[in-house]
Amino acid sequence: MQIPRALIDEIRERTDIAEVIGQSVTLRAQGGRSVGLCPFHQEKSPSFHVLRDKQIYHCFGCKESGDVFTFLMKTQGLSFTEAVKELAGPAGITLEERQLDPKERAKMQARASLHDACAFAAEWFHTNLMSRPEGLAAREALKARGCTVETWKRFRLGYAPDRWTGLLDHLQSRGVPPELAIRAGLARKNEQRGSAYDFFRDRLMIPILDRRDRPIAFGGRILSGEGPKYINSSETEIYEKSSTLYGLSLGRAAIQRKDRVIVVEGYFDAISLAQAGFEEVVATCGTALTEGHLEQIRRLTTTVIALFDTDEAGKRAAERALPMFLGVGVEPRHLELPGAKDPDEYVQKNGAAAFEQRLHSARSLVEVVISWSAQRHGSTPAGRQRSVTEILPLLLQMPPIQREAAIARAAGLLGVGELALRELIGRRRDEPARPAGIKPRFVGNAELNRLLWLLIHFPQEVGPVLLAVPDPQIVTDHPEVGFAIHQLLDGKSLASLREDLTDIDVKRLLGDIAAREGLCDRERAATMASQILARLEGKAVNERLSALQRELSACDPTLDRPRYLALLSEQQEMVRRKQELVRITGPMR
Ligand code: UTP
Ligand code: MN
Repeated sequence: MQIPRALIDEIRERTDIAEVIGQSVTLRAQGGRSVGLCPFHQEKSPSFHVLRDKQIYHCFGCKESGDVFTFLMKTQGLSFTEAVKELAGPAGITLEERQLDPKERAKMQARASLHDACAFAAEWFHTNLMSRPEGLAAREALKARGCTVETWKRFRLGYAPDRWTGLLDHLQSRGVPPELAIRAGLARKNEQRGSAYDFFRDRLMIPILDRRDRPIAFGGRILSGEGPKYINSSETEIYEKSSTLYGLSLGRAAIQRKDRVIVVEGYFDAISLAQAGFEEVVATCGTALTEGHLEQIRRLTTTVIALFDTDEAGKRAAERALPMFLGVGVEPRHLELPGAKDPDEYVQKNGAAAFEQRLHSARSLVEVVISWSAQRHGSTPAGRQRSVTEILPLLLQMPPIQREAAIARAAGLLGVGELALRELIGRRRDEPARPAGIKPRFVGNAELNRLLWLLIHFPQEVGPVLLAVPDPQIVTDHPEVGFAIHQLLDGKSLASLREDLTDIDVKRLLGDIAAREGLCDRERAATMASQILARLEGKAVNERLSALQRELSACDPTLDRPRYLALLSEQQEMVRRKQELVRITGPMR
């Protein structure tokens, strides 16, 4: 359902953000705002601020910020629409369900019943495992591999008996016809006989849950006999493999609390690590890691520890995944587990403390990939050259701060000069061919930040000052920040404006700035804004002056007199402007 923007804003306005957050976080009033322990990361002293008047929250520790909708999305796994709907009622607003045409209605009902079919199936599988005679072998198998009953419950493990229509019969009794079971990926059709049969037979069942803990698909592990180790639900209307991570809904809270996530490949690696106390774990569902997966993760944490198989295929998977990680602004760490074929085996053999130790010593995947490249190509001059060519695109993709450190490490690992490497990178970066879809990260600067603070807190006073600026470029050349400023000048509230921003760094920055304590009072706001603007313009003027100086000394007045005069007059103009600015700001560096 498309909810009109005005209604969304209205709901936000009518909702007391402190009250909503206060239901799950203990907040204490502190001078006009509410403060508490941040639910998004672990901390001992409160740095989580809720600003009722601005309708936002912000954590000074982990920089998580948002409005009441994002709070519900992040803490309860709701979609945006679901969060809006959740708050509409209490805000006294009824959302008219748009009139659906019969086709749309049928589709929505089908979706709902696909969820039902999967939920009935999961429940039935689970009961089979927990208590039915047929589930005995599965129970024994789980116990034999050290999986506790508590874990069976947490992951809602189950058992599909060795029958052709066991599940189909059960579903039928719950009102789910075979066609629906087929659409849900739970049954197949026998074309010759025109009848349906259970897809999962005599298998240990692992339900795959969506963000709201609803089963949407299954993995089925073989217990004995012939056949593939796992069979998995194919994709359905409610199950998309490339955006589903196994264990995410169960692990979300731990991922946020510990501010890290462990990404593994096997269902049982995830299950086993969670049982050992590492609940912050997710697994891919029998597919390679995709950008869709990383997007989900990145919303929760940027500390990603990835486990790939130690064989050649695992190496290749790691190398393929790395640019994707860097592309979403995550520098992953790479975990190797000596003497074990996978995390499950490692943690069973060596215990949780040893695994935690390993997590701590996990190296940056960038570094690991660089050293693989060095090993592959050898240390002859030609080999090093090949390695450099290979890793350059990676370095270019990294956020600047991390890149600095990575260059130094790369130079060491490859045995090439750091300066030479920097040179190469500098040259490449000026080339317009940035990898597609990768935006530079935005960090802001002290002047801009102060200006934004003033604008957010005293729009009436500061707005006119900003509107008078002749060249908006002197304030910022970042398109999204520029856009944000325009919106604020238009009287948009910060919370509402956030919806339109796509750059997470800009969102965070704005949250951070808005939540900062008072910079100055209302009386001084306009003056302060003028001073900052003068300083910013001063910088631009200084830069232009140096450029003019260079151009002037390169220009021969006898050869190109008109140009020389033009430059000279612009220089005079700039000097005059600089003097004016100095009167506002005081002498400039
Ligand atoms: P693993 O063979 O490592 O499985 O495959 P596992 O989860 O550790 O299971 P155990 O410990 O042997 O019981 C990793 C993942 O690859 C997918 C599954 O998602 C599995 O969890 N896979 C593997 C399949 O989809 N089909 C297969 O036949 C094998
Ligand atoms: Mn395994």
